[in-house]
Amino acid sequence: MVNEKLLKQAREIVKNMSLEEKIGQLVQYGKLKERQWDLVKKGQIGSFLNVSGAKNINELQREILNSDCKIPLIIGDDVIHGYKTIFPIPLALSCSFDLELIEETCAISSEEASSEGINMIFAPMIDIARDPRWGRVAEGAGEDPYLGSEIAKARVRGYQRNNWNDRPFVTACAKHYIAYGAAEGGRDYNGADVSERTIREVYLPPFKAAIEEGCGSIMCSFNDLNGEPLSGNEYMLRKVLRDELNFKGVVVSDWESVEELIDHGFAEDKKEAAYKGIKAGVDIDMNSGTYEENLYNLVKEGLVDEALIDEAAERIIALKLALNLFNISEIDEKLSEKVIRNKKYIDVALEAARKSIVLLKNDGILPLSKNIKSIALIGPLVDDKVNPLGCWACKGDPKNVVTVLEGIKSKLSEDVVINYSKGCEILEEIDGGIEEAKKVAEDSEVVVMVLGEAGNMSGENNNRAYLDIPKPQKRLLEEILKVNKRVVLVLMNGRPLTLEWEDKNLPAIVEAWHLGEQSGNAIADILFGDFNPSGKLTITFPRCVGQIPIYYNHKNTGRPTFKKYLDVEETPLYPFGYGLSYTKFEYFDLELSKEEIKLGEKIIAKAKIKNVGDREGEEIVQFYIRDISASITRPVKELKGFKKISLKPGEVKEVEFEIGEKELALLDKDYNFVVEPGTFKICIGPNSVEGLEKELKVVK
Ligand code: BGC
Repeated sequence: MVNEKLLKQAREIVKNMSLEEKIGQLVQYGKLKERQWDLVKKGQIGSFLNVSGAKNINELQREILNSDCKIPLIIGDDVIHGYKTIFPIPLALSCSFDLELIEETCAISSEEASSEGINMIFAPMIDIARDPRWGRVAEGAGEDPYLGSEIAKARVRGYQRNNWNDRPFVTACAKHYIAYGAAEGGRDYNGADVSERTIREVYLPPFKAAIEEGCGSIMCSFNDLNGEPLSGNEYMLRKVLRDELNFKGVVVSDWESVEELIDHGFAEDKKEAAYKGIKAGVDIDMNSGTYEENLYNLVKEGLVDEALIDEAAERIIALKLALNLFNISEIDEKLSEKVIRNKKYIDVALEAARKSIVLLKNDGILPLSKNIKSIALIGPLVDDKVNPLGCWACKGDPKNVVTVLEGIKSKLSEDVVINYSKGCEILEEIDGGIEEAKKVAEDSEVVVMVLGEAGNMSGENNNRAYLDIPKPQKRLLEEILKVNKRVVLVLMNGRPLTLEWEDKNLPAIVEAWHLGEQSGNAIADILFGDFNPSGKLTITFPRCVGQIPIYYNHKNTGRPTFKKYLDVEETPLYPFGYGLSYTKFEYFDLELSKEEIKLGEKIIAKAKIKNVGDREGEEIVQFYIRDISASITRPVKELKGFKKISLKPGEVKEVEFEIGEKELALLDKDYNFVVEPGTFKICIGPNSVEGLEKELKVVK
């Protein structure tokens, strides 16, 4: 988004600005009090967040254009999975492996947000997350760097589609740079002690991808990384982000993270924090006031070179040029009425919700027949309009949420008796709740229980040490099972849960996550077979918390066959890439166009997939590689491609993947991408643990 041409133009603008005005560009506030109004009037502030409504934003833009400085404002907002039309949480939607759909949800979010004056979206969150205790796993695309990179690109493309001329464009702000997901113990804000190699192999690829896609801004993370918090981390921000990844856009701090350098023990006071922030390359100071209060003096005292301020201001102004803000900054105040919650967007929300659902277990009880006589709906999330929205559904209105009760009611004829009982609250028992629910279960042909987490049990700083279904709900489930074995468990949650007991004791488990406003319709479609489940997990489900960290692309060790634990199997309960359908797919005839290639050559791997069941269905075909022996040890499997195909009963399709340098390369000792001669295992399959395998030899 920001390029040399715009930077040059920005340089000309910056030349005519006073030092105070230039520093103003670097200042962002998330509140609008007298002090901030004052800065607006003086033209000494560059951006805001947390101000909303076209009317208010127009007023701000008009006021700043009246100042001497006349540089329009960037207006940021957290639009994580929808602005007013609320889609599934990002972790859920990643399970669709549907890049076009993901892009579309972001384009809609951006279209809606921009119609009310927002021009910077603090998303996508592209942190790789391997620890389900960490609440922010809900906001990302799971554990895999390849999939994470593809989704990062799709999301940036969507947010920055900008196919309008009646308002400013929107920039995405990819976050949180970097290794934020590696917070020790899954405790948000904790430091991350991560090797250079893991940073580069695991955490960096989605950022590289977002930059290649033209992402206009990047937010640096709160955490300490190997002793240097990111808001003052010169190596990661200047050397890696700017020099190596060639990022030309704007770096925004996280909320007050420049000032937090003091609590990290990385700066004595706000002055030193400002010094370290600007030196490291943080362009915008979000809400801490640290830059506003200190940069002027730091320059005047000769401690900070004015060129550093110029450089940051140039990037910010170049971004404003790219957003077309100098031509149009005001919004038609009626525009949002035409844009927001358009019927087409709600249809996309339903499609997204259906495709995010992962069927974890089914002994044949699902799909349910619509001709049943009676059904019991039990659990605190059956008729809940708030929690299905999930974390960060900031402007989502619970009124728009379709509950499971409503979704099922609208699907069944009036002859079917629907018995509803809440049973308990999400975290508390209800007096007599279990007894009432048991009665309801006893009297019904089948029971659907909707259990799980509240929307605010994941997201920022909402970490958990236990990953079970919360106690009162688990008890309810155990009690219901005593009176009716035909229990389908529908889970609403923002992270993997530990479900060993449930897997052993229940006939069916549907992972429905927090699916946004169309939750109830999507879940009803899956339960009654109007939509065949097709989602696959993008994050591993452990058997118990003690297995964490557990992820599919681990190393082999020198003793791979040795037992890992005395007290639990070493495999996860549900692996990465796993998910069932109401039909069955068979994989056969894996072929490589050549089984030996020279360095630099490309080949095609192909396999056939047949729908051997009796329903049409979609399958996410996954392609993995393992480099058997190399100068640096490689993971036991690495996802390198996937394709989503639809097959009618009996239909066969051939799926192809290209294998070349991109797929075979590793980062060598000096962190250069190289392909080394040797043997590679090529695998095409339905998930990260099953599939067809062939060997490929690469020779000099
Ligand atoms: C979060 C960011 C968010 C910012 C602004 C911070 O607390 O970490 O993800 O964009 O607040 O709301």
